[in-house]
Amino acid sequence: MEIRENLADKLARETKEQQAYVAQLAKEVEHLKEHLGRIPTCHVTTFGCQMNARDSEKLLGILLAAGYEETESEDADFVIYNTCSVRENADQRVYGRLGVLKGYKNKNREMKIAICGCMTQEDIVIEKLQKSYSFVDLIFGTHNLYKFPQLMTDLLSGGGPIMDIWKDTDITVEDLPVARKYSYKSGINIMYGCDNFCTYCIVPYVRGRERSRDKDAILEEMRKLSSDGVKEIMLLGQNVNSYGKNLPDKTTFAQLLAEAEKVEGIERIRFMTPHPKDFSDDVIEVMKGSSKICRHIHLPLQSGSSRILKRMNRNYTKEQYLDLALKIRRELPDVAITTDIIVGFPGESMEDVQETIDVIRKVEYDNAFTFQYSKRTGTPASRFEDQVPQDMVQEGFDLVLKEVQEMARKRTAMLQGKVEYAMVEEVNDHDPSLMTGRLSNNTIVHFKGDASLIGQIVPVSLDVCQGFYYLGTRQ
Ligand code: SAH
Ligand code: SF4
Ligand code: F3S
Repeated sequence: MEIRENLADKLARETKEQQAYVAQLAKEVEHLKEHLGRIPTCHVTTFGCQMNARDSEKLLGILLAAGYEETESEDADFVIYNTCSVRENADQRVYGRLGVLKGYKNKNREMKIAICGCMTQEDIVIEKLQKSYSFVDLIFGTHNLYKFPQLMTDLLSGGGPIMDIWKDTDITVEDLPVARKYSYKSGINIMYGCDNFCTYCIVPYVRGRERSRDKDAILEEMRKLSSDGVKEIMLLGQNVNSYGKNLPDKTTFAQLLAEAEKVEGIERIRFMTPHPKDFSDDVIEVMKGSSKICRHIHLPLQSGSSRILKRMNRNYTKEQYLDLALKIRRELPDVAITTDIIVGFPGESMEDVQETIDVIRKVEYDNAFTFQYSKRTGTPASRFEDQVPQDMVQEGFDLVLKEVQEMARKRTAMLQGKVEYAMVEEVNDHDPSLMTGRLSNNTIVHFKGDASLIGQIVPVSLDVCQGFYYLGTRQ
């Protein structure tokens, strides 16, 4: 208990300190504005998952609060890349685009470039940045993201380059400005880090150990968002089912969901990502009785072969996964189940791929993300000797992709002719007379309407199934 209170004191002190730095940063931005003769511009680019996107909203919130103006272009006075390192191609994209930024910087002497996020927690990335990308002015990691106001102030007052990477942290600072991308929906971090150490995955190394936020702080944030017009929230964590395990009061994820349901004004609740090994019956029970929790569960499978699952350190077998998924199908028949699958994990044979396909056929996923295994330095699987040759990976990948697409088409078509409530999210990219809405089960529907509907939940008939989405009519 005593340790806990000390942490609470530390949290309060650190939060106050960074809030003060936001004010100091504003003074630095004011000087820059006088020097430039115009308002300085900024751009935040997100490369990763929902948690990464939420971090970007925090970065942008601080920049806007300090007086920067957001611009669509990366040809700005301040550009920050919030990176992801989950697969190698994400890294490569960052290096490629840094080259473009260098060109902008050559033309704009006042331009500052920063990098943060998961990539910067990797030693090999830092070495490469220092060696070949010395024009980057500010580098910081995932654990000290909350220190951004201070780091930015130091950069603008003293010049760079600045590099500050921590190995871990024990606190979760939240009360700093946030600029939400959407007015009507928001993510909320309920926990940070991951303790699962799946053998292919870099996340535990770059995000550190699991830390759950206090339940009351989460509910308070929900209430604040609700009073600010937010109707839909997504509870975010790498393994939301293990929420609360390290809290003194041992609050469970199911308890948090039940409390979240009571927050007035919030009409939809989503969560991402649950881990099959920790998905307990009490969550299914809460979902059964809930009118707000969306009818969608993302349940990452990774592989359908128990042999591969063991080598992945997923802590469940094919049979245990199937039991869970089919229980969800039985108990919550209107819930869409989606998944993540990795093809080409070391030692995977075509028989293993067939096991994965067997699970796809039995669960009938509503949608799935299929990834080719990517070797991540520092993870146990990168040292496994039986890496699969690329042509075999491709062959397995094509088989799995074909199967999930067939299933997704079949499941999507089942809604044909129904009237469902859709959250109106945005004007359609291709046809501005259409609005894009999202059903509770995550299916997308396009229908005639105008931008004034954005953020409303409206009934829409699902008229024509176009494979993975619908064309519909507002009722
Ligand atoms: N915490 C979540 C997933 C986070 S990463 C979970 O446990 O399900 C998102 C997805 O990226 C994973 O589900 C996995 O399918 C994929 N992924 C992670 N590491 C990978 C790697 N080294 N190669 C390919 N895909 C990977
Ligand atoms: Fe990675 Fe596994 Fe943690 Fe998900 S649960 S973030 S896949 S280590
Ligand atoms: Fe990528 Fe980091 Fe998220 S590695 S998937 S941005 S936690």
